Amino acid sequence: MTASSQVVELFDLVIFGGTGDLAVRKLLPALFHRFADGQIPAGSRIIGIAREALDDDGYRALLRKALVASDGSLGAEQLDTFLQLVAYRPLDARKADGWDDFAALIGEHPDHVRVFYLSTSPELFVDICARLGQYGLNQGASRVVLEKPVGRDLASANQINDDVGRVFDESQTFRIDHYLGKETVQNLLALRFGNALFEPLWNAGHIDHVQITVAETIGVGHRAAYYDRAGALRDMLQNHMLQLLCMVAMEPPSSLSPDAVRDEKLKVLRALKPIDDSNAAQLTVRGQYRAGVAEGASVPGYPDELGNAKSNTETFVALKAEIANWRWAGVPFYLRTGKRLPNRVSEIVVVFKAVPHSIFDPSTGSLAQNRLVLRLQPDEGVKLWLTIKHPGPGGLRLRHVPLDMSFAEAFGVQQRDAYERLLLDVVRGNPTLFMRRDEVEAAWRWADPILAAWGASGVPPKPYAAGSWGPSAAVALIERDGRTWHDDSE
Ligand code: BG6
Repeated sequence: MTASSQVVELFDLVIFGGTGDLAVRKLLPALFHRFADGQIPAGSRIIGIAREALDDDGYRALLRKALVASDGSLGAEQLDTFLQLVAYRPLDARKADGWDDFAALIGEHPDHVRVFYLSTSPELFVDICARLGQYGLNQGASRVVLEKPVGRDLASANQINDDVGRVFDESQTFRIDHYLGKETVQNLLALRFGNALFEPLWNAGHIDHVQITVAETIGVGHRAAYYDRAGALRDMLQNHMLQLLCMVAMEPPSSLSPDAVRDEKLKVLRALKPIDDSNAAQLTVRGQYRAGVAEGASVPGYPDELGNAKSNTETFVALKAEIANWRWAGVPFYLRTGKRLPNRVSEIVVVFKAVPHSIFDPSTGSLAQNRLVLRLQPDEGVKLWLTIKHPGPGGLRLRHVPLDMSFAEAFGVQQRDAYERLLLDVVRGNPTLFMRRDEVEAAWRWADPILAAWGASGVPPKPYAAGSWGPSAAVALIERDGRTWHDDSE
């Protein structure tokens, strides 16, 4: 068995956008946890870069506050040791000032693995990479990490990939999609390819349909400016949700080597049936939240949060996708994601076909279809819903109950944040869980006509109350086909 924590090589991790939400709320806590587990060797460096005029101590103080807020039980001593790895340089990617100093700092350790993490808006990727190239910082084992979304459509993604590609080659480019680092997504690989049980059933002959839900209770809050230019399709569906779909639908790769896995995912993306102005109105639903109640509190609607009543940006999307290949012909994949929904839940539900003939009297209860539910969050785990006889006397009474495995209960471990695994994979140089350029392109090639159809229709997103499951049209989308969205409490 592989050791759970292997120490990585000495590295310098430079985070552009070092004071941003992602860096402070996700990346630094992830690094701290890996450090606390002994995976990050002393001597490694984490260098925050942003425009704010801070020095090393100012940045450390900011991080200390955020780390303590994220986990009140952190030991002060360990935190101090960790923060000693951290430095800060104020830089504006578009201006020359400060780059000499930064280059000198990086140059101190030519032997370290270098990771340049671009946690900035994609418009800055090109300028940052050009400077890194100009200062000759792409040396030795250097990698660049691109946060999603890579572009806002196929053309801009191509442009970014070309520009970044002038400095870093594809093998050095890690396009991150943190959903691929989530425990249950990894487990999907184990479940599908480590068990003989599922593969014979994993096709249109036995699977009725698949549902993928990524529901959030949060609104867009202070990210409104970014979000309004993106919307749910670009922010969640084109990347996270399509990646989940690929993991469910791909053919067994011949190995877990990065390209074997990514080749199979790419085939799925390329086999997605087009959704365009001929069918978008039937196959997609867009929504935008209005004031309502979320997590017990009254919350404003999206237009108020944004301060623009005219925005046509969707905060919810549901759609019916199909994969045109032998394995999946005729099996719908219903996808939905949104902000300000009633629960924070991400899950993949594989619904099997009904038994071909019932031998039971209708009075014994209904025969529900088997379901395999892979819960990504919260409460990571797997449930297999089966029909069984209610135990004891009273005649034959059928019940639909789950074989329930919560990973936390079964293994007694707290789940790591996806970024912990992914950040160290970058240091190790393992791109399996990162998107290759052709995957990103194939995903945009499918998403672009949907965006174009929405734009051309001029129909605004349907309003839904915060705290509801989106517009009623999303329920109709699946119910038209005689199916319902999975409800775990049923
Ligand atoms: C990000 C999106 O990629 O994923 C956010 O930009 C979203 O809008 C987030 O909130 C959800 O991630 P998680 O891990 O909390 O499900």
